[in-house]
Amino acid sequence: MKIYQYDTIDSTNSEAKRLIQSGGISLPAAIIANRQTAGRGRLGRSFYSPPASGIYMSIVMDFPQRQEDGVLITVRTSVAAAEAIQEITGIEVGIKWVNDLYINDKKICGILTESALYEEKRYVIIGIGINITTDDFPDELAKIAGSLGPAARGCNAALTDAVIRHVLRISEGGARYIEEYKKRSIVIGKMVSYRYNGVQYEGRVTGIAEDGALLIDLGGGKTDLLRSGEISLKPLK
Ligand code: BTN
Repeated sequence: MKIYQYDTIDSTNSEAKRLIQSGGISLPAAIIANRQTAGRGRLGRSFYSPPASGIYMSIVMDFPQRQEDGVLITVRTSVAAAEAIQEITGIEVGIKWVNDLYINDKKICGILTESALYEEKRYVIIGIGINITTDDFPDELAKIAGSLGPAARGCNAALTDAVIRHVLRISEGGARYIEEYKKRSIVIGKMVSYRYNGVQYEGRVTGIAEDGALLIDLGGGKTDLLRSGEISLKPLK
């Protein structure tokens, strides 16, 4: 694993793209920063990345040859990150579909998977942000974001190594991770709401398919299968 280490960077995912476009990246690679000035999240959001309190890392690999492996990268990465956190800190984290890690109703880790093309070669960039000791969240995040807390203080280097190790291991495939994903899911059996094509839906999660899709019972004999987007655990009033 080639490590590219920075004190300050805009976004490790953006730096990964620049390294790919420069033509000189060695694979697999991990781009790691102490802080990000423009950390990015899913759905155009930003990811709060203050110095010395979290892991901000992007792992770059060859894009998987098998199409199903591409779809499952985020599912696998959330299992890998959860296992790494448990191994190093002993803290058990839950997974909110698709790939947010939670402790006690607070999000402590987000994953942003992107791809890049350079000279007809496709790369996958797996961005992982873990709040280790972050406790000064901006107002808009204070109610929803959390961190691993004091039990994880000083674990930054060991946890970074463990995340890399688990991501590499799990990216080799195998059926076990989907079972592990389901075990850690905090949404199975719960009422959720979500928007699709501008329409708001509400239903109960009944399971997770082998390809990571979310199975939802909408009531009245109707079901749905969600493959992307975001769900909210708070049911509509
Ligand atoms: C999300 O919660 O929506 C995803 C957050 C992903 C954050 C990580 S931090 C390292 C990498 N670089 C970024 O700019 N984003 C990801």
